[in-house]
Amino acid sequence: MSGDAGAFDALLSEERRFSPSEEFRAHAVVADPGVYETAAADREGYWERWARELDWFQAWDRVLEWDPPYAKWFVGGKLNVAHNCLDRHLDGPRRNKAALVWEGEPGDVRTYTYWDLHREVSKFSNVLRGLGVEKGDRVAIYLPMIPEAAIAMLACARIGAPHSVVFGGFSPESLADRINDARAKVVITADGGYRRGGIVHLKANADEAVRLCDCVEHVVVVARGAGITGQGQVRMEEGRDVWYHDLMESASAVCEPEVMDSEDLLYILYTSGTTGKPKGVVHTTGGYLTQVYATTKAVFDLKEDDMYWCTADVGWVTGHSYIVYGPLANGATVLMYEGAPDWPDRGRFWEICQKYGVTIFYTAPTAIRAFMRWGEDWPGRYDLSRIRLLGTVGEPINPEAWMWYHRVIGGERCPIVDTWWQTETGAIMITPLPGLTDTKPGTATRPFPGIEATILDDVGGETTAGYLAITAPWPSMLRGIYGDDERYRATYWSKWDGVYFPGDGAKRDGDDYLWILGRVDDVLNVAGHRIGTMEVESALVDHQSVAESAVVGKTHDIKGQSIAAFVTLKEGVEGTAEMEATLKQHVADKIGAIARPEMVVFTADLPKTRSGKIMRRLLRDIAEGRAVGDTTTLADPAVVQRLKEKYEEEGDA
Ligand code: WT7
Repeated sequence: MSGDAGAFDALLSEERRFSPSEEFRAHAVVADPGVYETAAADREGYWERWARELDWFQAWDRVLEWDPPYAKWFVGGKLNVAHNCLDRHLDGPRRNKAALVWEGEPGDVRTYTYWDLHREVSKFSNVLRGLGVEKGDRVAIYLPMIPEAAIAMLACARIGAPHSVVFGGFSPESLADRINDARAKVVITADGGYRRGGIVHLKANADEAVRLCDCVEHVVVVARGAGITGQGQVRMEEGRDVWYHDLMESASAVCEPEVMDSEDLLYILYTSGTTGKPKGVVHTTGGYLTQVYATTKAVFDLKEDDMYWCTADVGWVTGHSYIVYGPLANGATVLMYEGAPDWPDRGRFWEICQKYGVTIFYTAPTAIRAFMRWGEDWPGRYDLSRIRLLGTVGEPINPEAWMWYHRVIGGERCPIVDTWWQTETGAIMITPLPGLTDTKPGTATRPFPGIEATILDDVGGETTAGYLAITAPWPSMLRGIYGDDERYRATYWSKWDGVYFPGDGAKRDGDDYLWILGRVDDVLNVAGHRIGTMEVESALVDHQSVAESAVVGKTHDIKGQSIAAFVTLKEGVEGTAEMEATLKQHVADKIGAIARPEMVVFTADLPKTRSGKIMRRLLRDIAEGRAVGDTTTLADPAVVQRLKEKYEEEGDA
């Protein structure tokens, strides 16, 4: 594999470099470049210092117990996550500070101070206890992006009931699978939520799901209000279903937090793997909170007066770690928005940034590419000058999107933190530190201090282009797959001995920066050369006519694989044969003839999951002319059928 390193370096060379400004550097939370060395010299001591910034009811006896692949962090320590996110802020100036500033899609607004949030969480904790939820019982949360989502999560944490948040876009069947796998006793949902002007009828979905579950004793229903509640859509089942507001009315606001062991279960979050059955990723208490706390503070350079906005949904890990637990543990002011970025128009996000004076903005590359496609005019209409730091997460960011983000949203003054991590890692693992790191478009740069990551080949040898590997346990690592130890070992720990395999390909450049190349099944081999699908996609998106692209390998008699590119053009551009030839040549010019796509298929939409990830697996099926696999996780399954027909038509022509 190391023999391919040269090819990689030739394929993508990014020379642009951006240093933090003197001004930013001078006030950065982490300003000492020695932090990497200090942490590496004594990793346990480093994490212990972060852990001490939290409130513990009882100190730990040992920092780490590592019995691969099982880790225990802060062994013997006792704490409560909700206490750390709320109670401990009540005795100082944060008491009346806004904890949560929420805007609904129709424009309704609610603000909760730390005092308010503590009260609501305490009350709902008592509600849950009143419904028979005890420490260790699982609770499923199926809510829109409304404050009650955060309140429900924190209430679960307060009473020691692990939550399983299920993204509101999931179908009843997916919800049922997750409820059943975790054996959840209570489901928390809402009568509805807003998305692009329409109403998502969550309670109706939950009813369908719960019909398939025999473990559910109660369904708590939040009245979303704003025109949804009172429309008579909701059927309440006597004895099982209860309204949130009815129970809250009489609930006491005094609720002692449960004393949790550092290794007690905090939550389960389901994520897809290579098989059809989602994996219930297990996160525990002390280590998880320590790392989300530390990374929120250091990576986002969090200051007391920041207005912090992470655009993720709480249904994904990004929402867990960087909307709820990390920011609130830091006493931050968190902005939360219910709806779509293009409702009622494509300026909505920027309107929100202006209105609330957002200072830190964290989003996904897929969103950035959509903004690019919609044009600079939209952000141009709003004052974004308060923004001082930008972040991205979720997939490799192509340099063109990075540059656009930097220029148009960041006004060329904001550091960009490209943060690599996963549901399984729980918290950010590879990232720039905004006051220290020179960034380059497209690389997540270096492991966070205290994290050990490298690149290995199939047999565990160090290489400059191969598989990303995490070589030491980290505090927020998953503690297993719920109810499936075998799968935990097989998926993450069977490739090398005692080393975590995240499933991503990576390369290292001359500055020792790590470039994540995407999932390893997205790396192509064309005539013996490894080519990241991402590299070809970057080259395509670099063309002025291209909005988005997805590239897959297609079996080729001589080369092993050839490249098929699925391309969405910018509005107003036509997908002619000339355009196809132009784009092929453009890729060849950017990367080398080796990366020239064999075919380009123009499409208005790419098949994406509800979280915005392109499903290359389905594109590979189309490109290979196979029966198309499972499309149930797609935001719009019809996209695939249209694309398949188009592909076959063009193939015939
Ligand atoms: C996979 C994890 C972590 C929250 C959202 C996704 C890809 C994530 C980056 C990044 C390149 C990235 C990886 C990873 N990924 N961040 N900054 N650069 N790739 O969580 O659904 O668990 O997905 O997302 O392939 O393995 P997830």
